[in-house]
Amino acid sequence: MGELALLGGEKACDFGWPIWPVHDAAEESLLLEVLRSGQWWYGEKVRQFEREYAAFQGAAYGVSCTNGTTAIEMGLRALGVVPGDEVIVPPYTFIATASAVVTIGAVPVFADIEPDTLCLDPADVERKITPRTRAVIPVHVSGRFADMARINELAKKHKLAVMEDAAHAWGSIGTQGGAGTLGRCGTFSFQVSKNITAGEGGILVTNEKELADLCRSFSHCGRTEGSAWYDHNNLGSNLRITEFQAAVLLAQLARMEDHIARRERSAAVLDQALADLPAIYLLRQAPEMTRRSYHMYIFRLRETELGISRSLFIEALQAEGVPASEGWYRPLYRNGVFANAHIGPPHGIRSPLAGRGVDYRDVSCPVCEQVCRDTVWIPQNVLLAEESQIRKLGDAIRKVVAGAAELGRKA
Ligand SMILES: Cc1ncc(COP(=O)(O)O)c(C=O)c1O
Repeated sequence: MGELALLGGEKACDFGWPIWPVHDAAEESLLLEVLRSGQWWYGEKVRQFEREYAAFQGAAYGVSCTNGTTAIEMGLRALGVVPGDEVIVPPYTFIATASAVVTIGAVPVFADIEPDTLCLDPADVERKITPRTRAVIPVHVSGRFADMARINELAKKHKLAVMEDAAHAWGSIGTQGGAGTLGRCGTFSFQVSKNITAGEGGILVTNEKELADLCRSFSHCGRTEGSAWYDHNNLGSNLRITEFQAAVLLAQLARMEDHIARRERSAAVLDQALADLPAIYLLRQAPEMTRRSYHMYIFRLRETELGISRSLFIEALQAEGVPASEGWYRPLYRNGVFANAHIGPPHGIRSPLAGRGVDYRDVSCPVCEQVCRDTVWIPQNVLLAEESQIRKLGDAIRKVVAGAAELGRKA
């Protein structure tokens, strides 16, 4: 396989990966159309995107908003989560899944994840339910569904609302429906690293008209359908996106089917290339998924078989021309905002119902802690590369695994 690039050998991937974000004449012409129309705000393009995106996920309604974070806040409020309620979230996710809960005055409670899907573990969710639990937010990490059947079963038994954080699951579909339709509602992000983007943006999809109407109201300064312009019947905010964002998103959406298929193909090539390596732990495919929209390609390392640390493994991969990273390297509750919550402002998180501060120092989700130490992420733009390049990527990973012992001796 040749000497590792980190030790002076040749780079396995001596070419550029696809640039992200992707755009072409479609974005340009739609943007110009908006520019010239003078209708820059709250117009038909936003409505069209909401309809088309909801249909893409198989949902009846879509309400756009500024980003994936505000989509979660909007959804929680629409579901009736109020200050003092507890909301169960995984610790292996972006900060927004938990911080949005705090923003609306509720309290995030962390439940562990499954080692082979990296998504919320229903058994730990059940252990974390208290009389104050109002909602659960499963996160479909990198487009792979959480165990929605078991989470929905628990939700039914304990009368909890389920909202999917589907920020990575644009176009993921299972036998029960599309991402965002598997609970009561689901939220998506269109931030620039995401597979469909307008730089920023978000949407909530649902099959419930009442929820959609409430979200629309919250995102539109508390106005309600049919009310006069300066009638504000709910406590809302301004979460609207512009026609420019909608124009870009419409062009991006038209590319999604093709991009999803390419990323799925790349992931299959990598799965096959890495399947026989004892040092690499491939994640389980959710059997009910008929289409998996990959965000990152994620695998775990068995460091004892590998013989070197993850950071050295990643350094060696980067030297081979592979833009690998550690991804989320700490459980959310180890971030200052939670770890120092007991100290009080500026970090203080108070549970209004309990009337006291919240203390996350004893929270322990051992699976997530291990996952944060041993996962490797390959970003989504790489998965858009030509099949021959993806094969070279698989070779590069195999090369680093094969050279790990020598690297360990020389490091
Ligand atoms: C799982 C998850 N949830 C929520 C968000 C928040 O989305 P945004 O950055 O659009 O606010 C992100 C963004 O990275 C995410 O990865």
